[in-house]
Amino acid sequence: MSEPFLALQSLSKKFGEIPILNDVSFSVDKGETMVICGPSGCGKSTLLRCLNGLEPVTSGTLRLGEREIDLSSPKNRESARIGTGLVFQNFNLFPHMSVMDNLTLAPRRARGLRAGDARQEAETLLDLIGLRDRASAYPFELSGGQRQRVAIARALAMKPQLLMFDEPTSSLDPEKKEEVLSLIRELKRTQDVTMIVVTHEIGFGKDVGDWAMLLEDGDIVEHGSAKEFFTAPVSSRTQKFLKAVINA
Ligand SMILES: Nc1ncnc2c1ncn2[C@@H]1O[C@H](COP(=O)(O)OP(=O)(O)OP(=O)(O)O)[C@@H](O)[C@H]1O
Ligand SMILES: [Mg+2]
Repeated sequence: MSEPFLALQSLSKKFGEIPILNDVSFSVDKGETMVICGPSGCGKSTLLRCLNGLEPVTSGTLRLGEREIDLSSPKNRESARIGTGLVFQNFNLFPHMSVMDNLTLAPRRARGLRAGDARQEAETLLDLIGLRDRASAYPFELSGGQRQRVAIARALAMKPQLLMFDEPTSSLDPEKKEEVLSLIRELKRTQDVTMIVVTHEIGFGKDVGDWAMLLEDGDIVEHGSAKEFFTAPVSSRTQKFLKAVINA
């Protein structure tokens, strides 16, 4: 049997003495999407930040493609940053830079692309997000949905092996939300990118997810196919959680 593209083994994380993630393990194949749900404070953002190499951890190994990254080693954590992209809830674009500069800065600095090549790649990404004509706009001149689409393009510009989203639509109104959700659906369909998405949009989670899990107090309560998770969850905790989200 071939090994999964992404495998997280025994990730544990504390803030001070307080345990936040307890021995979390899961795997995802190439091109698949894992959806993560869970109540506020259960550790979802922390989990993504640990996978992105932004947080020191007690233990945990991430296998990504051919690489085996010991997340508890500060030096190795740097290497997690190279292969993973994280799109935050509040699109943190560089405010003083145009859309084009936002998209070309990291590829030039971290991937060593020449300016012309970085621009060319950025133009392809702008086509993908439907904003080719806004390359010279500054973030403050864009709507929230457009800014979030640029943030997604900026993460893609680093050609990550793993792309993660932390509640990518929670600060958007319903129409803008749909713009961003459609873009993520499109990525799933056309880009063969492996994704982890924290979201409480159940309909979206059901169609974009291959796998889904409920996290509570840093433990995986239920983990299974997204279809079963969202339509016929086994755990009574998941049933209660999904019911509360639907009624919210
Ligand atoms: N830098 C920090 N220092 C100390 N504690 C932290 C820090 N960041 C997060 N925490 C704590 O870790 C726990 C998990 O936080 P996290 O942000 O991962 O939750 P979450 O599941 O993403 O919640 P939400 O749905 O509200 O975004 C919370 O109890 C939080 O208070
Ligand atoms: Mg969070």
